[in-house]
Amino acid sequence: MTMDRTGMASRKLRHIDACLHGPVEYETVTTGFENYRLPYNALTQTNLGTVDLSTGFLGSQLRAPVLIGAMTGGAELSRTINRNLAEAAQKLGVGMMLGSQRIMLDDPDGTVAASFSIRDLAPDVLLIGNIGLAQLSDDVAPKIAAALDRIGADALAVHINPLQEAMQASGDTDFSGSLERLRRLADDLPYPILLKEVGHGIGSAAAERLRDLSIAAVDVAGAGGTSWARVEQLVRYGEVRYPAVAEWGVPTAQALTEVRATLPNMPLVASGGIRTGVDAAKALMLGADVVALARPLLAPAIESPAAALDALHGFVEELRVCLHGCGAADLPALRRLSLTPRG
Ligand SMILES: Cc1cc2nc3c(=O)[nH]c(=O)nc-3n(C[C@H](O)[C@H](O)[C@H](O)COP(=O)(O)O)c2cc1C
Repeated sequence: MTMDRTGMASRKLRHIDACLHGPVEYETVTTGFENYRLPYNALTQTNLGTVDLSTGFLGSQLRAPVLIGAMTGGAELSRTINRNLAEAAQKLGVGMMLGSQRIMLDDPDGTVAASFSIRDLAPDVLLIGNIGLAQLSDDVAPKIAAALDRIGADALAVHINPLQEAMQASGDTDFSGSLERLRRLADDLPYPILLKEVGHGIGSAAAERLRDLSIAAVDVAGAGGTSWARVEQLVRYGEVRYPAVAEWGVPTAQALTEVRATLPNMPLVASGGIRTGVDAAKALMLGADVVALARPLLAPAIESPAAALDALHGFVEELRVCLHGCGAADLPALRRLSLTPRG
């Protein structure tokens, strides 16, 4: 597909507009976390103020097991969003994923790189760049490495999104050979790769194909939160014309369980509809190493650095309360507890 920088930037803005104002969340599919009850312990021996949420992920130390989900880059508004989120990430010691850097791959004068540049505000943050697998050409590794070098990223998230692309006007719909391109990129790129979906879920069928690839982590990005098949239909038709496919995907809790069973030692991100600290605690107990959330941070990130910080801080503190109420002083203690399925 050929699309110039202006086209890509304006599509990004239409996505943002739909995510702010449209009915973009799944209506019938839920994450599945509601099927579990968080254990409550009235005789907890923890002190809320010293509950330790710290964890290592992709070689970085995080103060909480949370990543800002991949959202944007390329347009002026994207710069505001990324910089406001970066400030919050630095203050809270959580990680951050950027939106697709495809627009940076053909940016000889560095004009669009500015919207991804946050290292001055967030020198210590685990920073993860982003590219779509559908758009990878065979020889793209050096260009991607240059784009990651330029913004000081620590790793690359590669998104796989066949359903989103199929719903998008002029989307990239030929995924044949994509597994081989992923293998080559993982071998050639001098950065760790995190493989992610965009909200329709990586389940066991996809995880099976990753067994012998040099992938550093997987973000299941399951169904139950933002449906990108809905977003693309709203942008394309002004309505959800095909509701059945918009409600299609592997629910996040199921995706997490399936990928954990298939790849027992793979570092895992749980995302897709993670909305509360309770969701996060359940995801961590079901095998996630960290959680990520995207759309809930969009409006606060547009509003101001303080609003972005407030939203993220509230989420992290709710998670801290969950550990306290479960009787877990830290994440290893939380993971030793079992999650009760609702009767
Ligand atoms: C405004 C917006 C833009 C997004 N852009 C990207 C992107 O460029 N690359 C990507 O991998 N995912 C992108 N996503 C998908 C998210 O990273 C995430 O996987 C998905 O929205 C599900 O999480 P949520 O339910 O917390 O929103 C975007 C999400 C939003 C809300």
